[in-house]
Amino acid sequence: MLPETLLCLLNAAFVLAQTRQSIPLNQVTPFTPSNLPNPPIFTIPSANTLSISVALCTANGSPRFFVTNSSAVDDPGPGGGRDVFEIPITGGHGNWTGTFKDGGTLSVVDGRQTSFELGVSDDGDRPIHEVVPGLPVLGDTTSNQAIIFSAAFNKPLIQPPSYPNYTLPPANQSLPSPPSSAPNLTLIISTTLPTSPLTALPQTGCSLSAQRSLGRVTNKTFWMKDQEGWRAQWFLEALTPSTNYTAYVVQDRTKVSGPIFFTTKSASFSCPLVHSLPYCPNIAYSVPLPRPPLGSNAYDATNLPTKITTPLLSYMSNFTTTLTTFACGRDWYSPLVGCDDCQREYRRWLCAITFTRCGEPSPANSNAFTAVPPAPDATGLSAVRPTNGLDGSQLQQVFSALVPQSTDISKARSPTLPAMDSEYSMLLPCLERCTAVDRACPNFLGFTCPDVHFNAAASYGVGYVDSVDDNEGRGVTGTSQDRWGNIWCNGG
Ligand SMILES: *[C@@H]1O[C@H](CO)[C@@H](O)[C@H](O)[C@H]1NC(C)=O
Ligand SMILES: *[C@@H]1O[C@H](CO)[C@@H](O)[C@H](O)[C@H]1NC(C)=O
Ligand SMILES: *[C@@H]1O[C@H](CO)[C@@H](O)[C@H](O)[C@H]1NC(C)=O
Ligand SMILES: *[C@@H]1O[C@H](CO)[C@@H](O)[C@H](O)[C@H]1NC(C)=O
Ligand SMILES: *[C@@H]1O[C@H](CO)[C@@H](O)[C@H](O)[C@H]1NC(C)=O
Ligand SMILES: *[C@@H]1O[C@H](CO)[C@@H](O)[C@H](O)[C@H]1NC(C)=O
Ligand SMILES: *[C@@H]1O[C@H](CO)[C@@H](O)[C@H](O)[C@H]1NC(C)=O
Ligand SMILES: *[C@@H]1O[C@H](CO)[C@@H](O)[C@H](O)[C@H]1NC(C)=O
Repeated sequence: MLPETLLCLLNAAFVLAQTRQSIPLNQVTPFTPSNLPNPPIFTIPSANTLSISVALCTANGSPRFFVTNSSAVDDPGPGGGRDVFEIPITGGHGNWTGTFKDGGTLSVVDGRQTSFELGVSDDGDRPIHEVVPGLPVLGDTTSNQAIIFSAAFNKPLIQPPSYPNYTLPPANQSLPSPPSSAPNLTLIISTTLPTSPLTALPQTGCSLSAQRSLGRVTNKTFWMKDQEGWRAQWFLEALTPSTNYTAYVVQDRTKVSGPIFFTTKSASFSCPLVHSLPYCPNIAYSVPLPRPPLGSNAYDATNLPTKITTPLLSYMSNFTTTLTTFACGRDWYSPLVGCDDCQREYRRWLCAITFTRCGEPSPANSNAFTAVPPAPDATGLSAVRPTNGLDGSQLQQVFSALVPQSTDISKARSPTLPAMDSEYSMLLPCLERCTAVDRACPNFLGFTCPDVHFNAAASYGVGYVDSVDDNEGRGVTGTSQDRWGNIWCNGG
């Protein structure tokens, strides 16, 4: 016979265990200080592999989370023990993946001041809450607008054409219809300040989603700008000139992409944005054009002057006609690429050349943007020039490929653009736009790029993405633009 007191205790423990809340699979369970059970101990269902994730929703408190997959441990905690694990929290996120053959237990220590979410996922190794690897992408800004893309989320299977019916897309191609089931993506914008409210907060979906986002989204569409796949495309207005912004994209309130940083142009910046052109899907940046027609905030396929589109589409279809004199798909000019690659790269190059890109030296960050025009006969590398450091030492500084333009239509700019009524700076296309065509197209087309060691730097940004000796991705920046808001050359 057990003493009565012990029986009572056993009963209490039994009741306790029974009333413990179980965390449901594959959904988000939110807690606030007022609905956190006492004691804050939860049961985890048994499964082969589970990913447990935690997201803090408020900045106060510093809760700790302990998990065990052993049925012998009743209350996992800082005391440790066999098969007791602390879920490490960084930036407000935590996750732990393991096997739960006999189920498990999760306990929260010091959780009374914080709102947080728990998630238990049996979907492979993917926790419910996470920072996803893909970053949002800045299209471009004006003084008060911006175009921002989400990371690509859906890569459509495009069947390459095959012989004997080797058909390439027409010059005026149309994009496939957007995916029917897209993730719920939300853009969140704040100003970037040393005291930025966002960087002080947990970088989690629930925390970011509770913030007021700056600017006004006037259009959200899905767009496939490149082969990476579909992205959400946001057109933002009502931003402030010359201001640093931070952008996140939150998916389904639980997955965070970002941050990226960008800067709006100064109030006098006058180039409007051009975007959403099916025949030039990569173009989403400011172009030296007159103010868009009344009622439009930018140029798209509906209001772009035919003086620009007619020659562009004519070049494109003439090129395709010439290209397909080759027996595409029956004969191969390369083991790596075919006529479809050649046409795609030519299109991208033609669009980047036709749509001159505007840029601006940033007064606050001359490290990233500086308007020193290369001479028309400039030779060699334009990306890096030695400058004098504060202490007189020689530094290697990276400059954007910016060239000031007068209102005259100069030789460098696209001949099909109408005259611009004010001065602006042109951001030269990256040389890689040209070398990609050279690499993807058959020799008989005679497409060649300017010589890196002779005059390439007069018309292209050279040495940013690829190195001058042609090592792919080994240039001084390795990319045409980065997540910090630097835009080195026009990547098209
Ligand atoms: C608990 O997790 C540890 C570490 O992942 C593992 O070695 C152990 O087999 C698991 N135990 C059970 C019962 O699933
Ligand atoms: C899980 O947590 C670890 C740190 O413990 C972190 O490095 C990793 O990125 C997280 N995984 C995901 C998918 O968020
Ligand atoms: C050839 O391919 C195009 C596009 O892939 C298709 O629209 C067309 O019907 C095909 N023609 C024949 C004869 O198969
Ligand atoms: C391209 O084709 C679409 C129809 O698919 C048409 O509405 C549009 O006017 C064409 N664009 C140009 C510039 O010809
Ligand atoms: C998408 O997410 C937003 C913000 O989290 C929410 O307000 C909206 O209801 C969601 N939409 C759908 C269709 O789930
Ligand atoms: C959003 O932009 C696209 C592409 O320019 C356009 O077709 C669509 O009509 C716009 N939607 C709204 C609501 O303005
Ligand atoms: C395309 O080819 C046609 C016919 O040869 C020619 O008339 C036209 O000028 C060419 N277009 C361009 C932009 O060169
Ligand atoms: C924007 O950020 C850059 C570098 O991150 C900084 O040098 C500059 O002072 C900031 N500009 C403003 C207006 O805050």
